[in-house]
Amino acid sequence: MSPFRITRTLPEDATGAALRADALHGLTGTPKTLPPKWFYDARGSELFDEITRLPEYYPTRAEREILIARARDIAATTGARTLVELGSGSSDKTRHLLEELTDLATYVPVDVSESALRGAADALLAEHPALDIHAMVTDFTSAFELPETPGPRLVAFLGGTIGNLLPDERAAFLTAVRGLLEPGDFFLLGTDLVKDEATLVAAYDDAAGVTAAFNKNVLAVMDRELGADFDPGAFEHVALWNADDEWIEMRLRSARAQTVKLTALDLEVEFAAGEEVRTEVSAKFRQEGVKAELHEVGLELAHWWTDSEGRFALSLSQASDERR
Ligand code: SAH
Ligand code: AVI
Repeated sequence: MSPFRITRTLPEDATGAALRADALHGLTGTPKTLPPKWFYDARGSELFDEITRLPEYYPTRAEREILIARARDIAATTGARTLVELGSGSSDKTRHLLEELTDLATYVPVDVSESALRGAADALLAEHPALDIHAMVTDFTSAFELPETPGPRLVAFLGGTIGNLLPDERAAFLTAVRGLLEPGDFFLLGTDLVKDEATLVAAYDDAAGVTAAFNKNVLAVMDRELGADFDPGAFEHVALWNADDEWIEMRLRSARAQTVKLTALDLEVEFAAGEEVRTEVSAKFRQEGVKAELHEVGLELAHWWTDSEGRFALSLSQASDERR
């Protein structure tokens, strides 16, 4: 029997219903917004993987450097028998952890992208044929239960994806993560760090235009799923640093005045020339802020590791006895 199982906590029609609700809410509000989870259909997941290899996009390389250096410490500290990874994508960097987690019984990758989960499982099973993989097609911002698996449990959230949640979503998400852990279990979190604006903006506006294509992919998703008639050529990719909120914003700017029809919503949306839709925030962090947000939900910072250039941090925190 294959050790790979996949469960879906999202009902088959949930994606359509949630996308319809998000598009209706986001495109009729002021300013217009769309949540970033809709980037990641099969094409969007491929484009993200391409982004991770771009010269300007340092977070993946920086986090990999830390994982390679610290995977053994993480294994020794946590003794994890179950590794749960939220927003696991290709699970490519996770391989460095799997190599060192010698007591591991089960790996539970959790992602909205079924194509990414299937691709990751195929690649991992080639290297770890005996690994029990229980993949979950699940929205990690919704309430969900993990399968019964042996402890200690390590929940990982890599890549800096926590920065794609807005502050109130982030607080709710961290509370839910704490709820997945027993006292003594661990949380491994990747956070991109505040740095100079030029480096940050270049990482989100690369010369080859891959991030622009990733950003515009959300329009292709709405065209396909909602019968919309967005013309990706009529929107420009925008990446800017918001110094007050300490986050990068990606936006799509309408190149001209235009009306877009979304058949599935029976909706017409007017865009003024130059009007923007915010499609993503990518918050950047400082150690004290991360420590405080973790403490707030009953997670105590045990380790804070950065790459050699101080661009990205991996933190390991432990669930305390108190749930907040
Ligand atoms: N962890 C990987 C991938 C990061 S890309 C890395 O570090 O490279 C972000 C991943 O999170 C994508 O695979 C995307 O499909 C997933 N994702 C985004 N929003 C999500 C949500 N709300 N629930 C579950 N997965 C989500
Ligand atoms: C997945 N996440 C951490 C990426 C980021 O850097 O915020 C998504 C991304 N957006 C543009 N480039 C990459």
